[in-house]
Amino acid sequence: MKDHGIPPNPFNPHAWITGNPKIGKGTWIGAFCLIDGLGGLEIGKACDISCGAHIVTHSTVRRCISGRRHNKIDFARTKIGHNVFIGENATILKGVEIGHHSVIGAGAVVTENTKIPAYSLVVGIPARVVRSLREEVSAFKNGKRHKKTKRK
Ligand SMILES: CC(C)(COP(=O)(O)OP(=O)(O)OC[C@H]1O[C@@H](n2cnc3c(N)ncnc32)[C@H](O)[C@@H]1OP(=O)(O)O)[C@@H](O)C(=O)NCCC(=O)NCCS
Repeated sequence: MKDHGIPPNPFNPHAWITGNPKIGKGTWIGAFCLIDGLGGLEIGKACDISCGAHIVTHSTVRRCISGRRHNKIDFARTKIGHNVFIGENATILKGVEIGHHSVIGAGAVVTENTKIPAYSLVVGIPARVVRSLREEVSAFKNGKRHKKTKRK
């Protein structure tokens, strides 16, 4: 295979991991993900980060539109809890915190500094919590069947 120039990482040869993110045991990262640790990134244990998902902890927006008068890159610490599922092509922007056992739907954009409580099902652009997964997760843990609650 021709060298694609992406630095090697222990997760996937086609994922691009920058900086030095802390990534918990058992976390899976698919192809074409961008995992940007430059602003400080912590990802918990046993997460699934589906193909094409981007987690971005820096931004050059202000540097760009200020014509370099704001002559620096903005960074923000970003944190993903344990057992979080991130769907294909979802984007998580800087400063976001996602509580454990949450699901981020395919294609969602979680905007800067959003705090998502544990057990949330989150979808859309901008991403919004549509329901709690607490009962579903506890039903799984107890080996019971659980009926989905509909969005109000
Ligand atoms: C979010 C997801 C997990 C579905 O979860 P669910 O519990 O079955 O949720 P529902 O289908 O009941 O959807 C709840 C609501 O969110 C909406 N929704 C679901 N997924 C969505 C998505 N990705 N983007 C936008 N809206 C979405 C539904 O239309 C529904 O809206 P409504 O209440 O207005 O009818 C699924 O749609 C998804 O995005 N999965 C990602 C799969 C993936 O990336 N796989 C990669 C390989 S593992």
